[in-house]
Amino acid sequence: MAAPAVRRADFLMALAYATDLATGQSRDFALRSCVLAMRLAEAAHLDINERRNVYHQALLRYIGCNADTHLLAAAFGDEIAMRQDLARIDLGNHAEVGEIFVRALTRHHAGATPEELAGAIERGLAEAMQVSVPILAGHCEVAQRIGARVGLSPEICDNLGKLYERWDGRGLPRGLKGDEVTLAVRLVSLAQDAIVLAEVHGTEAMQAMIAKRRGGAYEPALADLFLADAAGFLKGLDGAVDRETILALEPAPHAILDAAACEDAYVAIADMVDMRMPFTYGHSRAVAALAAAAAKHMGLPASDIRDVRWAAYTHDIGELAVPVSTWMKSKPLTVREIDTIRLHPYHGERALAALGGEGRAVAALVLRHHERLDGSGYHRYVRGSDLSPTARILAAAEAFQTAREARPYRPALSDAAAAAKLRSLVREGRLCPEAVEAVLSYAGQPARRDSAERLAGLTPREIEVLRLIAAGQTAKEVARHLEIAPKTADNHIQSLYSKIGVTTRAAAALYAVERGLVQYQISAAA
Ligand SMILES: [Fe+2]
Ligand SMILES: [Fe+2]
Repeated sequence: MAAPAVRRADFLMALAYATDLATGQSRDFALRSCVLAMRLAEAAHLDINERRNVYHQALLRYIGCNADTHLLAAAFGDEIAMRQDLARIDLGNHAEVGEIFVRALTRHHAGATPEELAGAIERGLAEAMQVSVPILAGHCEVAQRIGARVGLSPEICDNLGKLYERWDGRGLPRGLKGDEVTLAVRLVSLAQDAIVLAEVHGTEAMQAMIAKRRGGAYEPALADLFLADAAGFLKGLDGAVDRETILALEPAPHAILDAAACEDAYVAIADMVDMRMPFTYGHSRAVAALAAAAAKHMGLPASDIRDVRWAAYTHDIGELAVPVSTWMKSKPLTVREIDTIRLHPYHGERALAALGGEGRAVAALVLRHHERLDGSGYHRYVRGSDLSPTARILAAAEAFQTAREARPYRPALSDAAAAAKLRSLVREGRLCPEAVEAVLSYAGQPARRDSAERLAGLTPREIEVLRLIAAGQTAKEVARHLEIAPKTADNHIQSLYSKIGVTTRAAAALYAVERGLVQYQISAAA
């Protein structure tokens, strides 16, 4: 099997595509912001180290923003629409922020009476005050962890943890001020806002808004540098940006990932995608384990086993285009929501296109993961003869894993019931019998667990608590679940946080997913 040699920047572009979807940004937003930021870095005569920081900050700024998305969706409904609105305002202006929250709550409670809506807005605003700082702190910590897992330097990861900080100290969660907000962070926040504002309001109005925020959100010297030739800096940045442009902009040395590093990067993508909602934690890892074992069982070559495993890690990356509020709905979905869901394999393939030739086989599998042999799948209605053995295995593994996970609108099926469901899909001609039997034969195997020594010295009770909070439970719920006092539950949480070196629930959840501690049974029981 040929060893893949992939530029790390290719993976970063896949992640950038995914975060653009999750934040409601337009096509290639992160890539365009990278070009603009690098132009500004050059004009500011930044050294190569600082330019490297800028490059990565622009591509990956929102990489942690999937953490705790279910909390945002529960409070405000369509979180992608809200994030899109928030990107267009001055976040230091509380009145503007409040207006966006009210707009989101009004959308979320469409159909409510004026009295009900007033109550919902009052509660929503109070809740927003309470949850904002912990949620944003979680985004920062998760961004740092994902950055480290794709091999980025501590300096770059540190910058990723400051994405919401501002020049005037009115940022969150730490309220850093002036030079405490590192240069790459200052420069990229200016570049990204310039792109968004130019897109929404036009270049002229954008310049007026940047000038107004000079000394507030933006460092005066950087704002002046940009405003001296805004049109020049933005030249050619109103359309798509190709992969080669971004590869060429990366300051040397260019990191190349070998097979093991690619594996790590794919798993990092899996965790980033799955951590939007507690009921999908560990989903892609579980699908990957099932699919790879089934491919091996069927005697497929090593390269096929690797491709199907990598495709399984990333199969739902396109789901980031679908608001979490849609996945959490217990009512029937609208036609529009169904259409958005049916396009997620398309977005998955687009995201992985950044990987070029090395990622083509993986992207092709991702594109087909919801197709069925009889053409009843989506989104291209591909039929049997166009579905390779690995595509059939991925479809079977995904369907089995999803069936045995709980969803807000249905409980988890037992393994036996999920197996029966898959076999009925085989009888209907939708899933491949060999692929289904190969998946099911592996599913009977006991789950592998990490030893306690590898888990930062956590006690069995702390591991139990970690699993529950990773599955979305609050300290109070953990206490109820384990029949212990809330204070004791809180002590366990604080102790395990300090042992694993995190301060937020989101980062602890990611830690649990990384070590295989979150399994579908937890979601099912919660
Ligand atoms: Fe899936
Ligand atoms: Fe999917």
